[in-house]
Amino acid sequence: MTAPKLRLGVNIDHVATIRNARGGAHPDPVRAAHMAEKAGADGITAHLREDRRHISDADIERLSKEISLPLNLEMAATDEMLAIALKHEPHAACIVPERREERTTEGGLDAAGQMKLLTPLVGKLGDAGIRVSLFIAPERAQLDAALALKAPVVELHTGAYCDAEDATHRLMELNRLTDAAKYGASLGLEVHAGHGLSYDTVGPVAALDEIRELNIGHFLIGEAIFVGLEESIRLMRAAMDKARAIAA
Ligand code: PXP
Repeated sequence: MTAPKLRLGVNIDHVATIRNARGGAHPDPVRAAHMAEKAGADGITAHLREDRRHISDADIERLSKEISLPLNLEMAATDEMLAIALKHEPHAACIVPERREERTTEGGLDAAGQMKLLTPLVGKLGDAGIRVSLFIAPERAQLDAALALKAPVVELHTGAYCDAEDATHRLMELNRLTDAAKYGASLGLEVHAGHGLSYDTVGPVAALDEIRELNIGHFLIGEAIFVGLEESIRLMRAAMDKARAIAA
């Protein structure tokens, strides 16, 4: 049986980081989103941080109106961000931690420890037709919490896997991602993954059948300096497709 298509969400936050280093309007993250579409992206991801360090409110407004790909809004679990999401009604909202106390040791959202805060938030986003995902560490307790919260999607944090100090630790982290992806799918959750992925690390994650979407940003924008944005995305798309085809 062939694995379902693996979607690529391109995170354009760091186009805005470069723009904001000087102020002004260049480079424009919306232009990057259009280019990502041409290069084979299946979605655009943008994180409106509470401190607005990269993506701005105006960027979200323009992305909502001007791009045809589905927009995945990454947001903290706050009333302010909830109001913004309900105003723009993006295709998807991914709840991410911004403060230390909201995170697990690995940096994922502590969904299991914040059920009270997250229950109404996930409910209101879902009622508005926004597909909610929770950015969590690859841990069964967090997946159980996502199910209890009725979030349809989880995004597994690949940071510990990408940052592993040696091959042994990387394999350990890959095993944790594999277990979490399989367990999440067995619960009926749609499983995504992301954070820190590069051409060197994407293959084994892309090969996991249960994973339906990868969200990748920093590496693609960095690599674009050398090869251009379309090419950096095309090469990532090709690396994902190759890994998926080998695994099939
Ligand atoms: N997924 C989520 C939930 C994230 O917060 C980020 C980083 O903003 C990414 C994926 C992409 O990570 P990176 O920029 O390291 O590829």
